[in-house]
Formats: sequence, structure tokens, C-alpha cells
Amino acid sequence: MNRSFLFVPADSERKLQKAGDVGADALILDLEDSVAPDARPDARAMAAEYIPGKPDVWVRINPLDAVDSAADLEAVMPSSPAGIVLPKPRNGADVAELSRRIDELEQCHGIPPGRTGIIALCTEVPEALLTLHSYIGATPRLSGLSWGAEDLSVAVGASANRDERGEWLPLFQMARNLCLLTASAVEVAAIDTVYTDFRDDEGLLRYAANARRDGFSGMLAIHPGQVEAINAAFVPSTAEVEHAERVVAAFDANPGAGTIGMDGKMLDRPHLVQAQRILALAKRTNS
Ligand code: COA
Ligand code: MG
Repeated sequence: MNRSFLFVPADSERKLQKAGDVGADALILDLEDSVAPDARPDARAMAAEYIPGKPDVWVRINPLDAVDSAADLEAVMPSSPAGIVLPKPRNGADVAELSRRIDELEQCHGIPPGRTGIIALCTEVPEALLTLHSYIGATPRLSGLSWGAEDLSVAVGASANRDERGEWLPLFQMARNLCLLTASAVEVAAIDTVYTDFRDDEGLLRYAANARRDGFSGMLAIHPGQVEAINAAFVPSTAEVEHAERVVAAFDANPGAGTIGMDGKMLDRPHLVQAQRILALAKRTNS
């Protein structure tokens, strides 16, 4: 399970060169908002050249309704990226439409069918927030959902998306929660959004720790300096692992018991499932 996804503007030779060395679990080469329209043809070519032979490189294309998206896909699909990140989808049908376009390009370029994944940024347009159930069963290519506050703020005309303490305002909390809930319902990775203050290390540590606490399995990054903190945040702490081991041991020692007491607290089945999940996560990130 990928913990950190580092955005890299695909028109920057320098950033592309650096990106592979910073320890991100995955990269997202951006062809959308961080690249000026005039620079897109070059960015496409640079992305296509960068991808071959690298395992976890994704590409953020332009929105499906923009003409650019077809050129983006045609340029990068021959290089067989790990997947496509789709900005501003309105619903699951848009994601299914992207999947159909990828079907054709996989076939055309001799890529095994279904190999290319999709991560959808599922809260960027207002309509998307009203139809998130449409992601259920939309396409087996979907492997993650993430969300964004910036485009949504512009769309609704909000002048801020965080309060003076840096906490999400209610609309954006709702978007974040719906992304998490939808990812869980569809059984794909829930990836928290970018922390844009890339010099605020303490704020990032707090944000990423809360993201894991809330149920996200990873987070987007915009700067190499954010990657280490994100990777560390999405691994269970030693204390969590020890507690989970004790919970599992307590149930093992009481076979047939539905509920038991430990440290003065009631434990029942959801606690066992949660403990097993933490142990599986710790094992996966150690291997
Ligand atoms: N990927 C790879 N390398 C990056 C990088 C990134 N996302 N962001 C910065 N770097 C490199 C810089 O090129 C620089 O390398 P150098 O020392 O060899 O020149 C080094 O890391 C330090 O960068 P720094 O000077 O601290 O930041 P900056 O002012 O150059 O860039 C941003 C700041 C925000 C413009 C830059 O981090 C960036 O482009 N982030 C991605 C933006 C993006 O993709 N947005 C879309 C999704 S929201
Ligand atoms: Mg955007």
C-alpha cells in the first residue's frame, strides 16, 4: 500500500531528475494544474520518456471534458504508467469512461488488459459530492480515491478553505470525510490531500498523523521535504503494534468469547478486527 504520492510537474527536468531519489512510494507526474497550457506538449513528451521501467509512476491527466486529456493519454499510455490520476470527475460514470479509453489504449500498445490503475480526485467539482455512491462498481481499475480543496473552493466561491488555526472549514471536512467513506465503501485506498504549507514540518506531522488516525492509508505530497514525514506517519507506531498484539493474544486465550475485558476496557469483535488490521499493516510496511 503506497503511503506517499509525490506530485512532480512533468515539465520540470530538474524536479523529474530529483523525484526518484526522495523515497516516495509513488510519483504522480502532473500534466494538469502545475503545468502551463503552452508547456503541455513538452511535459507529455518528458513524462513519456521518464516512465518506462519505473514501477510506481502515475500521471495526472487533464479533466476528461478538456481536449487535452486525449492528447495526455495518447502520449503517456505507450510507456505503461502504473495508472492515471483523474482530476475533476463528476461521478463514477466519468471514471468508467476513462477506463474505456484506457481499455483501447492498452490494447493498442500491447499492455496487459486492466494493468493500468485509476485514482480519482473525487471532490473537486460540486456535482461530484452529490453522487459519490456512483463510484460503487464503477470500474475494477479504480485503486484509490483522493480529494482536493482548492478547486472546490473556487467552484463554490469560498474565499478560504481553512480557519485561522489551519483546520478545514466544514464544507472541506465534509468533502474529506466523504472521500474516506466512499473509498471504504468501494474498498480502495483513501489518500488524503496535499498539505500546501511545505515549509511547515510540524503542521505536516500533525496533519499526517491525523490522516492515518482517521482511516486514510496514504497522502499526497508536493515537495520532497514532505515525503519522509508522510511515510513515517502511515506506519503503525510501536505502541500501536504492541497494543494490537495484546488484543489478538487476549482473544486467542479466550476462544469462543465474544467480548473480554483488557486494561479496564471492553473489547469485542470490531476491536479484534482493528488489531488484526494494524498488525497486517505493520507487516506489509516492514516487508
Ligand atoms: N518533485 C521533485 N523535486 C522537487 C519538487 C517536486 N514536487 N518540488 C521541489 N523539488 C526540488 C526543487 O527542484 C529543488 O531542487 P534543486 O535543489 O535541485 O533545485 C529542491 O527540490 C528544493 O526545492 P525548493 O527550492 O524548496 O522548492 P521550490 O521553490 O523550487 O518549489 C514548489 C516549490 C511548490 C513550486 C514545488 O515544490 C512544486 O512544484 N511542487 C509540486 C506542485 C504540484 O505538482 N502541484 C500540483 C498538485 S497540488
Ligand atoms: Mg487542482
